Amino acid sequence: MSIRIDSEYGILTLHTAHTTYQMQIGRGGHLLHVYYGPRAEGMFARSIVPADHGFSMNPYEIREGRNYSVDQLPLEYPGSNIGDFRTAAVDLISDKGICGCDFRVRSYDTEKRVYTLRGMPAARDPEAESETLHVVLTDEATGLEAELQYGVFFEKDVITRAVRLKNAGDHAVTLLAAASMCLDLPERYTERIHFYGRHTMEMQEERCVLAHGIQTVSSGRGMSGHHHNPFTIICEENTTEEQGWCIGVMPVYSGNHRTDIEVDQKESVRVVTGINRDTFTWRLEPGEIFETPQVLLTFSREGLESLSQQMHRFFRKHILRWPEEWKKPPVLLNSWEAVFMDFDEKRICALAEQAARLSADLFVLDDGWFAGRSSDTRALGDWTADTEKFPHGLSAVEEAVRDHGLSFGIWIEPEMVSEDSELFRKHPDYALRVPGRNPVMGRDQLVLDLSRQDVVDCIYGQIARLLEDGGIRYVKWDANRNLADLYSMALPPDRQREVSHRYVLGMYNLMERLISAFPHVLFEGCAGGGGRFDAGILYFFPQIWGSDDTDAVARLSIQRGYSFGYPPECVGAHVSDVPNGQTGRTVPLSLRALTAMSGTFGLELDPARLSEEEKEELRRYVGIYRKYAGLIRTGVYSRLRGERGLDPLFAWEIRAEDASEALVFAADTDPQANAKAVTWYLRGLQEQAQYRLTCVEPETVQAGDRTLSGQIFSGAELMQGAFATRPFSGNAPAALYYFERIECE
Ligand code: DGJ
Repeated sequence: MSIRIDSEYGILTLHTAHTTYQMQIGRGGHLLHVYYGPRAEGMFARSIVPADHGFSMNPYEIREGRNYSVDQLPLEYPGSNIGDFRTAAVDLISDKGICGCDFRVRSYDTEKRVYTLRGMPAARDPEAESETLHVVLTDEATGLEAELQYGVFFEKDVITRAVRLKNAGDHAVTLLAAASMCLDLPERYTERIHFYGRHTMEMQEERCVLAHGIQTVSSGRGMSGHHHNPFTIICEENTTEEQGWCIGVMPVYSGNHRTDIEVDQKESVRVVTGINRDTFTWRLEPGEIFETPQVLLTFSREGLESLSQQMHRFFRKHILRWPEEWKKPPVLLNSWEAVFMDFDEKRICALAEQAARLSADLFVLDDGWFAGRSSDTRALGDWTADTEKFPHGLSAVEEAVRDHGLSFGIWIEPEMVSEDSELFRKHPDYALRVPGRNPVMGRDQLVLDLSRQDVVDCIYGQIARLLEDGGIRYVKWDANRNLADLYSMALPPDRQREVSHRYVLGMYNLMERLISAFPHVLFEGCAGGGGRFDAGILYFFPQIWGSDDTDAVARLSIQRGYSFGYPPECVGAHVSDVPNGQTGRTVPLSLRALTAMSGTFGLELDPARLSEEEKEELRRYVGIYRKYAGLIRTGVYSRLRGERGLDPLFAWEIRAEDASEALVFAADTDPQANAKAVTWYLRGLQEQAQYRLTCVEPETVQAGDRTLSGQIFSGAELMQGAFATRPFSGNAPAALYYFERIECE
């Protein structure tokens, strides 16, 4: 049993295979958070030592001795206006004028099944492995109830959290903040790692020492954003890849998110995560319910590597869902960087033929195919084929693609509309827009008001018509601007700050309906690259285009960043042309191909511009990817080199769960003269087992005087430095080593 309840002492304990999470009902009925760490039996509530706290107040009923203050206690889900001066999880004002809420435990129970959220993604549980704890808190003055939900995924070492807020009072309340969770931690957590970035440079790892006060990772862009990915890690000073305590906090949400980490006057650390309160309010009439997005929590005492592996395993089973026919992943050729919008039927058919010659499985027609889309300033919203470019309709292209033995895929940007489009001319009110103000333009386009059901229905109809003849097997779903002008014609004035969250709900509704109606279609998310790369999108679309920067050197740090929270097979990564369109850099095909292999592996170039030798090379890489795709998509991932921009040599290992084989990718972005040999320390192999090395790329590698391919090492040797290679040299050199466990003679 993973949930244990000790009613005598009011202790609620959640166990996973290697972790324990404990709460206690405090003297005044406050729910206290007393432990999250390595698996342990015991009562961690004893860590709370009564003491007088100057300028921290005491609840009315427990004021004797002045040593019980909610400003000092670790609270599981703190309200506001109650003398806890740290960041609140919930804030509100009621129609009676009551501000804040004072939560006390009313009841708790457990269930042997996973909880779900209305209209929002929540971890799936296909084999009914999880258990749920519900704890109901109430605020007497307003009648607000908070039902805290904990999903315990024992084998995966993940606990999910979400909250159902119900107005059980007789007056409406307006929520001013409604976080998904709070986690009050001891002072041993002194650092955080987050992933900042920008368009074409997402997921840059940054590690900071926590300072007194509040530090925030957030987005107010209506999307999770390129700028601060919602995934955050809280850790100790000495946490490394291989050791140290750390906690991963992953909101399953694609809109305005916010994680506040507050270090208080006595160095306790409070983490509050959920919808960004800056752009949010929600009115709850008596009887109404508001559900927060889900957050995934995972803890490791063995450093960042195991933390990431726990997240990867969890995603693979409980978040990602692949259409049956795409479980074997397609190698696709995408038309964008090959031809941009400069094409017609003939050019597209020729490109598809080239894709087939490179032995791709899928051809994707990117932006520019629909009526009037002569540039990126127009025609979004009209999802029918352009008859000038395609006089015989899209079906002729589909057929040609199929004749080459390929599946057909297409690009759409369904959340957006151009002013110069039929949709906008017919329904100008469908766009988000503040009355009396000119709208803010982004890439010359406006955002559709998906907070409205009629708009969602209209877009659903358009996209369903496109997909209904079954010819399209893959959809790239793009979104090339952030949200501003938050105002919906369909909502009354006092509900306008609900628009950004209602937008996300409308978008999820659209996505859910489409994936249910067209289960054979593989959807790939995209928002100008990784502008909305989060667990919410990945619940519907199992892969997301990682970045509009396809330069392989830049991609190394971007993809390394994703690996902290997300498994490699969900990161869209393609081999593009040189010089690279974004950075102007020219790097060899080997680096471009191996980097793409550390993600979904696709092609993003016009093969007609390649020499016959280059095409042959590329075909060889497609073959290599196919050979190892199964391992890449299911394997255990370890970052070996490339730390935080300090190490120019990037390397990662992906090995089978049973350690029977392992791949090591390596790329040196700054080879030095007179450098020393590279000594490798592999991870997770069987010490006693023997492994045969194959140098896949380059085909032979010298260490000292020896050629390494074919040599046999023990697992212990590989993990403890016996495998060394000559220093890398040349222009952005890359390597791929494969180790296979062999039977001992
Ligand atoms: C941004 C995407 O990230 C690109 O790959 C491409 O699809 C363009 N949009 C098309 O407009």
